[in-house]
Amino acid sequence: MKLAVIGSGYVGLVTGAGFSDFGNHVVCVDIDQSRIERLRRGEVPFHEPGLPELVQRNARQGRLVFTTDTADAVRDAEVVFLAVGTPSRPDGAADLSYLVDAARAVGRGLTAPTVIVTKSTVPVGTGDLVRETIAQVTSQSFAVASNPELLKEGDALNDFLKPARVIIGSNEPHAIELLRRLYTGFLRTSDRIQVMDLRSAELTKYAANAMLATRISCMNELAALAVKLAWDIEKVRKGVGSDPRIGNKFLFPGVGFGGSCFPKDLRALRDMGRANDIRLGIVESVVEANERSKRAFSARIVDRFGGSLAGKRIAIWGLAFKPETDDIREAPALDVIAHVNAAGATVAGYDPIASDNVRALLGNAITLTTDPYLAAEGADAVVLLTEWHQLRQPDYARLRQVVRTPVLFDGRNVWDPAEARRAGFEYTGIGRPSPS
Ligand SMILES: NC(=O)c1ccc[n+]([C@@H]2O[C@H](COP(=O)([O-])OP(=O)(O)OC[C@H]3O[C@@H](n4cnc5c(N)ncnc54)[C@H](O)[C@@H]3O)[C@@H](O)[C@H]2O)c1
Repeated sequence: MKLAVIGSGYVGLVTGAGFSDFGNHVVCVDIDQSRIERLRRGEVPFHEPGLPELVQRNARQGRLVFTTDTADAVRDAEVVFLAVGTPSRPDGAADLSYLVDAARAVGRGLTAPTVIVTKSTVPVGTGDLVRETIAQVTSQSFAVASNPELLKEGDALNDFLKPARVIIGSNEPHAIELLRRLYTGFLRTSDRIQVMDLRSAELTKYAANAMLATRISCMNELAALAVKLAWDIEKVRKGVGSDPRIGNKFLFPGVGFGGSCFPKDLRALRDMGRANDIRLGIVESVVEANERSKRAFSARIVDRFGGSLAGKRIAIWGLAFKPETDDIREAPALDVIAHVNAAGATVAGYDPIASDNVRALLGNAITLTTDPYLAAEGADAVVLLTEWHQLRQPDYARLRQVVRTPVLFDGRNVWDPAEARRAGFEYTGIGRPSPS
């Protein structure tokens, strides 16, 4: 099939490269000229394991091309995917301006009947908005569908090429049929396509993120209680996770969730509830609980030093919102850095791949190093915020030699408290008891 993908970010590029790898001809579009130039040179502008190879292979074989010209891209396309960003507006609602601009540009370029598919995460009813926007600028016939993206950054290729499920939402049989055909190659072992109406598909994506974020926040709240009651939340996590009705995924207590999806999608869902006079009390609470959890973690660092970090040096290990990505959108590290900076600390940070993004955002607010032990030199506390493999088993003896004060804050509960304490460190995790 001939496809166009509008927006060449994490989702658009994985979508374009993934479909082209199955023999389709794909044109990826972006309004960012420099991004398109880099892609034409075979450079992927963000970190996603395996993606550069996939992009380069399909570009070399002529199935994947890049342009800034939307009209040109959609001219011959049978299916057009919208994969532009839908960030939060200041009030928390989803900002649909990129999507509307993209839909308008697509509409202007239509020269034949085409199926327009929204992959971006969008509030319920946006399919109708896309339809109206396009109808205003073209007399061509077209169909509208929703195919929300369910990939996880850091493992996006696996999720896209071997999807656990594919959601197709449309009220138009022709669009459903075309999308089914497109996904058939990915689903040889079993049919994991779920077809539904457009609005249900739009809500499914938010529902999934709300469920997952709720599990995390619930564990974070229980971890806060565990600190007071001297339980060990790690034992509790294993206990509840072994219940098959619950399962062990997304139960890890931590400093709080971040990233490009959960925080903004929960705020957008909260806004959908408010706009429709339905109180989504659980969603509202999860948004608040997550903010509380990030604040409480930072406050524990400041409290440890008597309420001020003046003259103190804090080392932050891990800056990306999770391992295997350089994405720092709403990363908890940004909150912690702001908090300890405000309390007077100087901050040194290490991340294997996210440093450039942090430097571009924070400039001099943080010193970035190319080695975790360099960041820890002279530190009064070492704070782990992203559980990169290489940070999970530190050389405690080496660390002990370089720090000024042997204090560890483990924001992901990946370090062994006993081992850290044996090495002479004071250890604070999430919901783990202090030794009496
Ligand atoms: N990142 C994820 O893990 C993930 C997972 C599932 C769903 N989503 C959703 O997918 C959507 C895209 O997310 P992302 O992380 O890929 O965003 P992103 O910011 O990485 O990429 C969006 C791209 O769209 C481009 N763009 C904006 N307006 C455009 C226009 N009019 N024409 C062409 N290009 C345009 C931007 O320049 C940017 O490169 C969002 O709605 C997001 O919620 C993201």
